[in-house]
Amino acid sequence: MARYLITSALPYINGIKHLGNLVGSQLPADLIARYLRGRGHEVLFLCATDEHGTPAELAAAKAGKPVADYCAEMHEVQAGIARGFGLSFDHFGRSSSVQNRALTQHFAGVLADNGYIQEVSEKQVYSIDDGRFLPDRYIEGTCPNCGYDKARGDQCENCTKQLDPTDLIDPRSAISGSTRLEVRETKHLYLRQSALKGQIADWIASKTDWPVLTTSIAKKWLTDGDGLQDRGITRDLNWGVPVKKGEADWPGMEGKVFYVWFDAPVEYIACAAEWAEANGKTEAEWERWWRTDKGAGDVTYLQFMGKDNVPFHTLSFPATLMGAAEPWKMVDYIKSFNYLNYDGGQFSTSQGRGIFMDQALSILPSDYWRWWLLSHAPESSDAEFTWDNFQGSVNKDLADVLGNLVSRVTKFCRAKFGEVVPEGGSYGPREQELIAELTTRLRAYEGHMQAMEVRKSANELRAIWVAGNEYLQSAAPWTVIKTDPEQAQAMVRLALNLIRLYAVISRPFIPDAAQAMMTAMGSDDWAWPEDVAAALATLPAGHAFSVPEVLFTKITDENSADWQAQFSGIRS
Ligand code: 2FM
Ligand code: ZN
Repeated sequence: MARYLITSALPYINGIKHLGNLVGSQLPADLIARYLRGRGHEVLFLCATDEHGTPAELAAAKAGKPVADYCAEMHEVQAGIARGFGLSFDHFGRSSSVQNRALTQHFAGVLADNGYIQEVSEKQVYSIDDGRFLPDRYIEGTCPNCGYDKARGDQCENCTKQLDPTDLIDPRSAISGSTRLEVRETKHLYLRQSALKGQIADWIASKTDWPVLTTSIAKKWLTDGDGLQDRGITRDLNWGVPVKKGEADWPGMEGKVFYVWFDAPVEYIACAAEWAEANGKTEAEWERWWRTDKGAGDVTYLQFMGKDNVPFHTLSFPATLMGAAEPWKMVDYIKSFNYLNYDGGQFSTSQGRGIFMDQALSILPSDYWRWWLLSHAPESSDAEFTWDNFQGSVNKDLADVLGNLVSRVTKFCRAKFGEVVPEGGSYGPREQELIAELTTRLRAYEGHMQAMEVRKSANELRAIWVAGNEYLQSAAPWTVIKTDPEQAQAMVRLALNLIRLYAVISRPFIPDAAQAMMTAMGSDDWAWPEDVAAALATLPAGHAFSVPEVLFTKITDENSADWQAQFSGIRS
């Protein structure tokens, strides 16, 4: 038994995530967490909402709510949807937690003590009436390029020109509309990442088993990008972790907070502390996941994320941890994903394009989505969601293959032998052949899951379901019963056991259906089938089972067309 710490990229608090976000981090992380638990390993699976930064402030303002209230509400909304998708987090935390505040301030303090923080004086726009410095996007004015009168200080939305706040004609505060603005001198903290470049490059170079997508992005930023330039880690916002040096005030930093990308990854650690607190555990119990001097030496740490997050996880966060030079656990494996596109375009949160998590659950149970998304995960390249493909895959894999097997076997047995596992006959060559095939395929499935090859795992699982169906088709107990009822009983006994075995191995992909299959088999034995022959003898003759409700309903052409129309527009 090994120990695995698993984190998924933390979803921003502002708004409900779309299916492209889901398949790029939380869902595959859940798949692997469930698989490793199923194999008997000790797993701590953490996720949280990423609550700071301008987007949170702006979304709250748009919703007309104080930002703290907005975040608390949206956190509950996201937590509910995560439960709806069966995401089995051990804890779903919040980056605005007291634990994260303390740890973020702690890291800033030790980084400063170790000489990795530099104070830099900058000129910045100050709003006299708002009594605060304004971040670039909080300043509005007329674009010098196209004359658009609502251009932002960082960019003109109309002509896309990148701007400096001082470029704007008639600048005003986006908060109050005040034009009483002036440029003032202010100090910010910079993390001296450049001083850690060699150490980070060596660390990345040692990760020879990482996916190419991860290392190629990391190396690109290391060598030709500006990924390891010194980076400003403070902002003039009200909402965020106040800048402190550990527990002490930081002169000159009054009213400033840490940049959201500085505190967000620290929440991976803080979330473990939140988990401990929420479950009445001691500090030592979370530290054994995160401190190599306190028991985390044998932990394997896996991170899951979309490709846009890779630079922060391969360069910036490691720079924070390395600069701190304390015994924090570093990530062992970073699984990253390309993008999922939607029906000929991109999923887009800002444009409300695609299917959002709450909408998905309102039309179909989560297993349908989980199966399609995972079996089409954008691993080696971007992938595309189309309603045709979704309908085809779900109907074929889930309804025709898996669902049909379960329904056929249980109904046939009930009709001919009653709702108990029949006792006659014994397994012959045809059954031995199936056991041999299942054994080979199951070992391949385990290999792909261990390697976190999501699509290959799904393909192998599908092949395992198909093998069962083919066995049943060729064994044909409904024909054999006429001439050799004992033999037909043995076939049905094997098939009922197969349903339990499928429940166990399919659970990481489709947990609800797996539970329904297990319940129907009157069992709660989730032991992994290390030995397929033994696993297929788990439910003994005479054991009671029941015929489950239809596991998967087929998606009709009409459903598919309706949904396509319903989701072709823009969500407001
Ligand atoms: O890109 C995003 O959605 C970010 N909220 C991910 C943060 S991951 C972590 F570092 F907190
Ligand atoms: Zn413009």
